[in-house]
Amino acid sequence: MSDVPLKNPGWAGNTGEFDLTEEEVRGEDFIGERPLHGGHSSVSATMPYMLIEKNPEAELFEGEYQERLKKILTRYPKKRAALLPVLSMVQELRGHVSPESMDRVAELLDLSPAYVRGVATFYTMYNKRPVGRHLVQVCTNISCNLCGADEVLAAFLECTSTELGETSEDGDFTVIEAECLAACGFPTCVQINSRYFENVTPADIPKIVEHLRAQVKKGD
Ligand code: FES
Repeated sequence: MSDVPLKNPGWAGNTGEFDLTEEEVRGEDFIGERPLHGGHSSVSATMPYMLIEKNPEAELFEGEYQERLKKILTRYPKKRAALLPVLSMVQELRGHVSPESMDRVAELLDLSPAYVRGVATFYTMYNKRPVGRHLVQVCTNISCNLCGADEVLAAFLECTSTELGETSEDGDFTVIEAECLAACGFPTCVQINSRYFENVTPADIPKIVEHLRAQVKKGD
């Protein structure tokens, strides 16, 4: 086994039969001190990307987004199959998927509004109402819960001066509970917009929140 020190306290250290370092298994941005911008983007192709600036009035499917839409549609044999990525695009632009946006998507993909609503409301990854610049989703499912997720959640609420599910007055934060984020080996896992922060403890929260506020000021 490698003698690279295992600095990430939540990492189980199991690299199987292969002589791999933690860096090789997980990527460098998980190693050592937690990067304040979070680890890997959770997005890959499966989750809607969330920008800091969310404009609920943004035009849909214009300009570069129109180009993206065209590209997305080429990937599927039928238009209806593009529903999830198209909803994701709406969320990326507007920060949430309103009933009006769902109707627009239905029209675009030749689907009934009821069908689109059924899909959009099934997935919790689609925000059904506006959220703050930073959507903080604290996993409170079993592994994280056993490792102090409730305290992490309470610390986020206190530090951002918000109530659960509400948006802070300055519009910077919405803090919610999330079901398992599939990072159970690294509790408590917190997804902030599109990035994962792992092994989070209450003591980390002030620094993370300060960093997020600075991002808003910088306009990142
Ligand atoms: S229980 Fe928290 S990520 Fe799975």
